[in-house]
Amino acid sequence: MVFMRKTTLPSNLSGLSWLITGASGGIGSAFVHLLAPTAKSLILHGRNKEALEETARRAKELGTRNVTTMTSDLRTPGAGEALAHRALQCEPLLSGVVNAAGASCWGDVVDLNPGALEAELNANAQAVSEISRHLGLAFMKQKNGKILNVSSIVGFFGLPTQAAYAASKSWMISFGCALHEELKPQGIIVTTLCPGATRTSFFSRAKIPLDKRWATHATWQEPRSVARIGLIALSKEKMLCISGWKNRMAIFAVKLMPRSWIALLVARELRET
Ligand SMILES: NC(=O)c1ccc[n+]([C@@H]2O[C@H](COP(=O)([O-])OP(=O)(O)OC[C@H]3O[C@@H](n4cnc5c(N)ncnc54)[C@H](OP(=O)(O)O)[C@@H]3O)[C@@H](O)[C@H]2O)c1
Repeated sequence: MVFMRKTTLPSNLSGLSWLITGASGGIGSAFVHLLAPTAKSLILHGRNKEALEETARRAKELGTRNVTTMTSDLRTPGAGEALAHRALQCEPLLSGVVNAAGASCWGDVVDLNPGALEAELNANAQAVSEISRHLGLAFMKQKNGKILNVSSIVGFFGLPTQAAYAASKSWMISFGCALHEELKPQGIIVTTLCPGATRTSFFSRAKIPLDKRWATHATWQEPRSVARIGLIALSKEKMLCISGWKNRMAIFAVKLMPRSWIALLVARELRET
């Protein structure tokens, strides 16, 4: 049975050693803040060393004594594998991973710089597959482990102006559902979290204009509630979790509509102010 007070996380997430990517900001750092009071150790990954050190300092304040930071660019081919390899050399042995790193770039496919699509797919999909595979293997030897991959509700439909980003998130959903079934008999839980619009620097970094109609229609969530929803889903061994009932309703409606309608509707929402 999973015991939980409103302010704490489920007891089956306590005492674990976590690797958290995207830990330097947004939803990733919210995961760190939630896990730090009960974690055995934390490995925090990102590119921004200063921001990462700040998250590490906060994690120590919140109760984790053993905090390591690692930096690399997950757009580089093989970076996911290299990170997993480095993280597995650390003591104590890892028992959980949160793949929260991810990024998008705004623009029609034909207008993007050469290499931008590949880089985006490397960071959002390839790195996740490499980390999940390597840690999945290590967790199998331990006969337990937890993998939480952060996808997005945009993975349920095509997203004009962010085609590769949405496709990478769609890949994550499919990959995560398959991995959940493959690893469950080995005692390893794989949960894919699909947040909707969340208040982080994601949009400004991707240069996504927020003065469009979709931004006023969207159900905005705070990173901490999204991270909390994801961790509760992981503790309940869910395969897939859409954050918040409004996002769940929206995706339910999306599933009932022909794909051609959704692409048209989404394109209008994204382009109109
Ligand atoms: N915000 C939303 O509305 C939303 C909705 C659905 C899903 N998501 C997903 O949630 C996850 C977290 O996003 P967020 O909203 O928290 O965005 P964010 O505030 O921009 O944070 C993104 C994190 O990912 C890391 N990252 C990005 N590109 C990287 C790369 N090439 N190599 C290594 N690390 C990289 C960043 O590290 P550095 O800053 O150190 O580079 C940062 O820690 C992403 O997977 C995103 O796709 C976000």
